[in-house]
Amino acid sequence: MSQATNQSWGGRFSEPTDAFVARFTASVNFDQRLARQDIRGSIAHATMLARVGVLTEGERDAIINGLTEIQGEIERGEFQWSVPLEDVHMNIEARLTDKIGITGKKLHTGRSRNDQVATDIRLFMRDEIDVIEAELTRLREGMIELADREADTIMPGFTHLQTAQPVTFGHHLLAWQEMLARDHERLLDCRKRVNVLPLGAAALAGTTYPIDRHVTAELLGFDRPSENSLDAVSDRDFAIEFTSFASILMMHLSRMSEELVLWTSAQFDFIDLPDRFCTGSSIMPQKKNPDVPELVRGKTGRVYGHLMALLTLMKSQPLAYNKDNQEDKEPLFDAVDTVRDCLKAFADMVPAIEPKKESMYEAARRGFSTATDLADYLVRKGVAFRDAHEIVGLSVAYGLKTKKDLSEMTLEELQQFSNIIEQDVFEVLTLEGSVAARNHIGGTAPDQVRAAASRAREALAALKGGA
Ligand code: ARG
Repeated sequence: MSQATNQSWGGRFSEPTDAFVARFTASVNFDQRLARQDIRGSIAHATMLARVGVLTEGERDAIINGLTEIQGEIERGEFQWSVPLEDVHMNIEARLTDKIGITGKKLHTGRSRNDQVATDIRLFMRDEIDVIEAELTRLREGMIELADREADTIMPGFTHLQTAQPVTFGHHLLAWQEMLARDHERLLDCRKRVNVLPLGAAALAGTTYPIDRHVTAELLGFDRPSENSLDAVSDRDFAIEFTSFASILMMHLSRMSEELVLWTSAQFDFIDLPDRFCTGSSIMPQKKNPDVPELVRGKTGRVYGHLMALLTLMKSQPLAYNKDNQEDKEPLFDAVDTVRDCLKAFADMVPAIEPKKESMYEAARRGFSTATDLADYLVRKGVAFRDAHEIVGLSVAYGLKTKKDLSEMTLEELQQFSNIIEQDVFEVLTLEGSVAARNHIGGTAPDQVRAAASRAREALAALKGGA
């Protein structure tokens, strides 16, 4: 086949495609990324066609050998991609016919580029989901281990970014881990709907050849053939679902990033990130910037953008296939690459976080973080909660004036506000006492954090085993 004109549909046309239009409508510059999946799909299709007697075994073998050689050419960078041949599908088919002659032209029997491209993207998504899942698992494992190690490390917990109550660093890390656990479930759920075979839908209505779609599905590892040919060639909801997962995950990573950026600042001084995850400034010699979390925070925007692009791409499209759908690839590719790289960066970085325990402890001590514990103490001694709140408020005001934390006041000082307070109050005013008292499932007590870490480890292992 000539490389200059697209003869696969040339028969009906009386003049060649306008040169600009050919470039404008071509997708080969980006969809060549689907080559491996395209070849895998074609080999399965040819195998199925031979199984049902549409191709001879000799034809099937010639096609499979030709495609395998083409795969090698592509991997070695020798393949000549041609824009006039429009897309990855026609480039590979044309090369096959160059190599094996007329038999190459039989490969497209009983299929269309419409079901072919839908199959390629689903195979691609499945491959990428598996890589992304492995990185997500590695990140969760590292986070759980760090949380377990830091189950006793005390830091301030915040609401409104104001010091609220002491928590353990392990508890904070396990909060992140819970976000990722839900993302992980969303990803696996999305994979189920990705893993359905469109091939056999042909252009839109199915095909007159006696194809066996169950065979093709099994050869390609799909759970089942799609139920409706019109739907199979047209909907890209699985891509929207993936970018929804990706957007929520990136939202979570951006929240973690934001906290890491804050914590590395001199003002917080809660953690150190190893130098290999940071860069310096070309002008300010003292600087060490937390580039990795900053960049992850920034990359969240492009993933949201891809979700909007795909939703808008699909909106109002009539059945069945429309050329609009060619626009699904670049957002999807970039979303996949961004999410995979951000997860890799996080999976490498999180286990290397170095908590500055003394600094965290000091910050928790400074912010009257045990004020609620004092109120609870008074309630246990019979004071109504609202009255207890008032008493503690006055104590805090006194502490602000005298620059003393509640735990640093003498018993006499505290008794100015309530004579119910006794020596045993100091057990609850310490940070250790405060966290240890929150001793129930979901609470911040070190023992609870260790138990939660081991449950998280089991849940992750069960997810891996079940996938
Ligand atoms: N390059 C096209 C795409 O990405 C392949 C399907 C083209 N089908 C068609 N009838 N023009 O969607």
